[in-house]
Amino acid sequence: MRDAHGRQIDYIRLSVTDRCNLRCTYCMAEEMEFLPRRDLLTFEEIETLARHLVVRGVRRIRLTGGEPLVRKGVLELVERLARLRTHGLDELTLTTNGTRLPEMAQDLFDVGVRRINISLDTLRRDRFAELTRRDEFERVVSGIDAARDAGLAVRINAVAMRGTNDDEMRDLLAWCGARGLDLALIEAMPLGEVSVDRPAAHLPLDAVREELERHFTLVPSLHRTGGPARYFDVAETGTRIGLITPLSNNFCAGCNRIRISATGTVYGCLGHDQKVELRDIVRAGGEAALDEALERLLAGKPLRHAFDAAQSEPALARHMSVTGG
Ligand code: GTP
Ligand code: 5AD
Ligand code: SF4
Repeated sequence: MRDAHGRQIDYIRLSVTDRCNLRCTYCMAEEMEFLPRRDLLTFEEIETLARHLVVRGVRRIRLTGGEPLVRKGVLELVERLARLRTHGLDELTLTTNGTRLPEMAQDLFDVGVRRINISLDTLRRDRFAELTRRDEFERVVSGIDAARDAGLAVRINAVAMRGTNDDEMRDLLAWCGARGLDLALIEAMPLGEVSVDRPAAHLPLDAVREELERHFTLVPSLHRTGGPARYFDVAETGTRIGLITPLSNNFCAGCNRIRISATGTVYGCLGHDQKVELRDIVRAGGEAALDEALERLLAGKPLRHAFDAAQSEPALARHMSVTGG
C-alpha cells in the first residue's frame, strides 16, 4: 500500500479499546465518555481486517488502547493475530501502561509477542499518582520486571514535560539502563481537551539530550524499530535512548502507518480527522469494498500534522486514547 505522497504504508496501529484504567493528565480528562461496547469490532472482525491488511502488505501491527490489556479476553486476540505470521506479518507488538503485566507478561510471550513498549513517565510514586490520577506505581514497576523476566524486549515510553518530570530525565535513563531497558522520550502532542497547560509544558528534546550528554555518552545509533524514534546508544549502560520529536523535529516524511480505532474507523494521520469507516464493510464481508475504502484513505492521507508547540487549544477534539497514539 502506498499513499498519494509516495510513502509505503506497512504498519498498523490497532486500538482494541478506548478505555483505560489510568487517567494520564496529558492523554485523558478525568471524566471521559467511552465508546459503547456494542460498537466495538469483535475479535473475528479485527482478525478479518488484519488479515486483509497483511495480505495487502502490512508487516507490523501494534496493539494499542486506551489500554489494550483491559479488553476482556485480549490474549485470544493476540494469539490469533500472531498467527498472521504465516501470511507475512513480521511483528506483533503492544503499547501498554503496564498495570496488567504482572499476570499477563508470560502469556504474551508464550503467544508470540517479543517486544513491548511500556509507559512510565516518573519514578516517584506520589508524582505517578498525580500524573495518572491512580495509585498504581508499584504495579507498573512489577509489570515492567515481569515483562523483562518473561523475555520480552522492553522499551519504556516517557512523555517529557516541563514542570512535571523534566527533573527526572537523567534518573529515568539511569533506571532503565540499570534494568537493561531502552527508553523513549516523547514530546507531548496537543490532542483532545485535557487539563495540561500545553505551551508551558512543552520540552524540546534536543535540549534534554544536550543536558543528558553531560552525564552519558550518547552515540547516534543504527537501531531502528520502524517508528518515529531517533535512537542513540548509551555507552555507559549498553542500552538506547530514543527521541520522539513531533513538535521540534517533524518526522512525517517517513510516515509508514495508519490507525484503526476500536470501532473500525481508520485514520490517515494522528494529527487529522481524515478517516474512513470500515466496520460496516467488514460486517458485510466485501473484500473489494474494503480495498476501495483503504484506497480512499491512502489517497487523502495528510502529508503531515500541524501541531504547534505554542498552541494551548487542542489540534483535534479527538483524545489520544481513541487511537492509542
Ligand atoms: P516502536 O515500534 O517501538 O518504534 O513504537 P512507536 O514509537 O511507533 O509506538 P509507541 O506506541 O511506543 O508510541 C510512542 C509515541 O510515538 C507515542 O506518543 C505515539 O503517539 C507517537 N507516535 C507513534 N507513531 C506516530 C506517528 O505516526 N506520528 C506521530 N506524530 N506520533 C507518533
Ligand atoms: N502526546 C504524546 N504522547 C502521548 N501518549 C499519550 N498521550 C500523549 C500525548 N498527548 C503516549 C503514552 C504512550 C503512547 C502510546 O503515547 O504515554 O506511551
Ligand atoms: Fe504520520 Fe501523521 Fe504521525 Fe506525521 S503525524 S508521522 S503524517 S501519522
